[in-house]
Amino acid sequence: MTTASAPGKIILFGEHAVVSGTTAIGGAIDLRATVRVIDEPGRVLITTEDLALQGFSFDLTAGHIHSVQAAHATRYISAVLRELDARDMRVDIKSSLPLAAGLGSSACIVVATVAAVSRHQGHSLSKKEIAEVSHRLEKTVQNGLGSPMDTALATYGGYLQIARDITPLDLPPLSMIVGYTGMPHDTRREVEKVQNLRKRYPELVDPIFQAIGAISRRSIPLIKEGNAAETGELMNINHGLLASLGVSSREMEELVYAARGAGGALGAKLTGAGGGGCMIALPGSAGLEPLLVALRQARAAAFQVTVGCEGVRLEAER
Ligand code: MEV
Repeated sequence: MTTASAPGKIILFGEHAVVSGTTAIGGAIDLRATVRVIDEPGRVLITTEDLALQGFSFDLTAGHIHSVQAAHATRYISAVLRELDARDMRVDIKSSLPLAAGLGSSACIVVATVAAVSRHQGHSLSKKEIAEVSHRLEKTVQNGLGSPMDTALATYGGYLQIARDITPLDLPPLSMIVGYTGMPHDTRREVEKVQNLRKRYPELVDPIFQAIGAISRRSIPLIKEGNAAETGELMNINHGLLASLGVSSREMEELVYAARGAGGALGAKLTGAGGGGCMIALPGSAGLEPLLVALRQARAAAFQVTVGCEGVRLEAER
């Protein structure tokens, strides 16, 4: 038996503008996907007990997929198993991340599956190899869409600065609240929407992208020093600029204002592509509890995360 786990992620600053080459900052969060591989002679079986994945068992060797939902959820895992020429094994998946919420759920499932299956086959892939294979597979399943950010964060963990290149950042862990609007989002649609706006108003959108990139760069020393007040202020400015690009929504704004108001957050912004999905909030002096209450009262699924946690790892056998 071989078990590996990998973390989900949030984007702290810089989404959308990063598509045009400016700087973004992402962090791995302590919600993980765990993949366990067990010998299963003559078959290749995928199972999950997880509620978020609607619990199912799927026999790849049987050659048919018994439901559209199962096909959707297993397409990433099947792609990994085909790539690694997996045989004679059962792959059990557990994930504590909501799907299609912008928290990198598919990337961490791919990364944990690559790590667990390759080790079970007796290979020792480096993190660089795991990140490369995982990025290529995630992109293929998503028809060519997908920045290397999610798979890199799931592999390396910690914080990454993403511009033309991806650079690890040495920053302390941050305690934050994630609020999920409950509305799944469509990254491709939101990215196209923003890029179309840029084509129509380059003289307006390019300076917004530049400002967003400047926010990301400016946040690095602030997070390092533990300057929560100014980090929060930058989150608020970043959110306003994202809203000006049309990727917020009424539901998102309700959560952002609930967090800043009753929740006492020092800063709140959407995270990821927007148009649904999640927001993040940095707690103020009253701590996490009022934030959780305020977001739940605003009908969000809200949970506490630690940002900057460990990347993919093999888990001890139990
Ligand atoms: C989506 O999580 C982040 C975007 O910037 C798209 C991307 O970077 O691929 C909106």
